Amino acid sequence: MSKRQLMNLLLLGSLSLPTAGILVPYASFFVPPGSGGEGGGVVAKDALGNDVLADAWLKTHGPARKFGIICNIEKQISRKTSPGDPTYLVVENDKTLATYGLNAVCTHLGCVVPWNSAENKFICPCHGSQYNNQGKVVRGPAPLSLALVHADIDDGKVVFVPWVETDFRTGEDPWWT
Ligand code: FES
Repeated sequence: MSKRQLMNLLLLGSLSLPTAGILVPYASFFVPPGSGGEGGGVVAKDALGNDVLADAWLKTHGPARKFGIICNIEKQISRKTSPGDPTYLVVENDKTLATYGLNAVCTHLGCVVPWNSAENKFICPCHGSQYNNQGKVVRGPAPLSLALVHADIDDGKVVFVPWVETDFRTGEDPWWT
């Protein structure tokens, strides 16, 4: 290798490292939160911080307890939800997990909305907003339906993945993205 080639290599090396150091953070600015790792999902955690296993969950959340709330989600699942938002897993009538979860935070002023099995609705204790069993708002003052996430199963664990597609309940773009 000539002295000239050696100098060129050294120059290239000395320029490329700082350039990469600038470009990587710059590029990561354009990657939305929650899109990293495992297809952008986060493993659902129970109240004790343990991973939620789909089979075990279904054993304790049958039709009599259709909705179960998951807490302690470690990572933000969309730009308009918050880290730690409680999210409902939904058990279908055939005792399988629905492919979506419902963010339990009321779209009015942010109270957590409990399921009312007698009324077959989610009813907010703060100002009375109501949502049907798919989280679609049916009575205000809440202006919007509960936010959706995908509830996938990966290696037996429930994984929440951001929902960026059309809201199947309204046929509209998701308000939470
Ligand atoms: Fe739910 Fe006001 S916070 S109705």
